[in-house]
Amino acid sequence: MTAPTYDWIIRGGLVADGRGGELVRADVALRGDRIAAIGELPATATHEYDAAGCIVAPGFIDVHTHSDAYLLIEPGAPSKIQQGVTTEITGNCGASAAPRWPGYTMPSDWLEQTYPGEWQSVADYRALLAAQRPAVNSAMLIGHRAIRAAVMGIEPRAARPEEIARMAQLLADALAEGGMGLSTGLVYAPAMHAQPDEIEALARVVARHGGIYATHMRSEGGALLEAIAEAIQVARATGVRLQISHLKTAGEANWPKLDAAFAAIEAAQAEGLAVASDRYPYTASCTDLDVILPTWAAQGGRAAILARLRNPADRARIRAEMAAARSDRYWDNVWIGSTRHPANAPYTGQPIARAAAAWNLHPLDAALRFMETDELFTGGIFFGMSEANMWRILAKPWVMIGSDASLRAPTGPLSHDHPHPRAYGTFGRFLRAAVDGRTVPLGEAIRKMTSLPAAHFRLADRGILRPGAFADVVVFDPATIQDRATFEQPHQFCAGIHAVWVNGAFSLRDGQPLVRAGRYLTPSGNQENSQGH
Ligand code: ZN
Ligand code: CU
Repeated sequence: MTAPTYDWIIRGGLVADGRGGELVRADVALRGDRIAAIGELPATATHEYDAAGCIVAPGFIDVHTHSDAYLLIEPGAPSKIQQGVTTEITGNCGASAAPRWPGYTMPSDWLEQTYPGEWQSVADYRALLAAQRPAVNSAMLIGHRAIRAAVMGIEPRAARPEEIARMAQLLADALAEGGMGLSTGLVYAPAMHAQPDEIEALARVVARHGGIYATHMRSEGGALLEAIAEAIQVARATGVRLQISHLKTAGEANWPKLDAAFAAIEAAQAEGLAVASDRYPYTASCTDLDVILPTWAAQGGRAAILARLRNPADRARIRAEMAAARSDRYWDNVWIGSTRHPANAPYTGQPIARAAAAWNLHPLDAALRFMETDELFTGGIFFGMSEANMWRILAKPWVMIGSDASLRAPTGPLSHDHPHPRAYGTFGRFLRAAVDGRTVPLGEAIRKMTSLPAAHFRLADRGILRPGAFADVVVFDPATIQDRATFEQPHQFCAGIHAVWVNGAFSLRDGQPLVRAGRYLTPSGNQENSQGH
């Protein structure tokens, strides 16, 4: 008896190789952590998987996530792998789990959790992550907020030249330890005080390391076009590869700006700049409810903000400014996500109007009450986007799929909050739309989740099915692929994902998690094996 040629043959599926073309019926053979062959394969394998009637694709790359801290707690990454996601780009929107130098406070939802160990540097984080043996690959952007806080705390002001120099050094260290690039969240305090000289100095460090600069821009609505111009100028000045995070035209008054936004980005590409973007297939965004506070009221950290909410004069001024800035109709589009105070729990996953009616308050006052009683731990879901614009954005050949969500689990420590359904549904939802002909063809939809992000983020030998590439593979049924998470009931897995391999290891079968074989990835193409399986 001769030994089988391959470890796995995935037989008889329709293969989408990730490059965006037509799907082709073929067998896919795996050996070790790589794809060994694709075609009509009469050879034998130790294991066979019958993929008849299914689509075989590269594992999906979720280019915009916040799972860096949660991978330490729930390394099985259930909400991700059950969507067919095999790689996450973490550390987005200016916040990363590392480095955690004194002065840096992680976002509140991370702080709440219990971790399996301590860490400070990126190297520490990677060691802890490796010990947890995650199910998915990940690569972490370094959050600007972490770097800035280590140098100047949360002071609401521009950085001085010597502070910028110190930040550049800390960032260089973090990148040398394996950071994928830099992320900013320029709508948030105190990062909103960063001026172009600070961002460009840091982006220059990233460019030198071959990394990426991902930005949640200063504005996604009223000053969207100015913010896009600012981001592009960073790429032009430094040569950094740019990722514009979760592209949108927020607020109905800004919906007509989409053509100008596309024109600006495509002009930059024509200039030779590496500019791309990502989007989730939902028209609601989700973040801390307190992002709607006036800028002055959002400075100084949690204690200072709460003190203002509890000071009658400050609160009156906050209320007056917010009322002047928003029509009553605005509140129809605001829902409550996670809450913290037990009295607020009934309104989780509900329009804020329900709480307002129950409390006999104007929705604006209900919002302030949530913030105060939840001590700023209230999640806000904002339905401010045009669906037509969403589909136009998703159809652009330079737009990838990014969930903008941390991993979650239906049980355990990550089951208690009320996330946006994108945490569980993003990939199933977009694939369903492609199968139904509501967006780009299926091959192109898969390219946006695979080879496009792999190329832009320089994930070597990922996002593609070809001999020699890493064997991150997903098998799904086009007839049943579907998101099931809703705004009311978000903790629900997608339907239709039948099987997932990560680095050649069979990791998910019919909803059952198997081995965990994810690795930490670095942009240079060095694929460190973080678990030695
Ligand atoms: Zn963001
Ligand atoms: Cu984000």
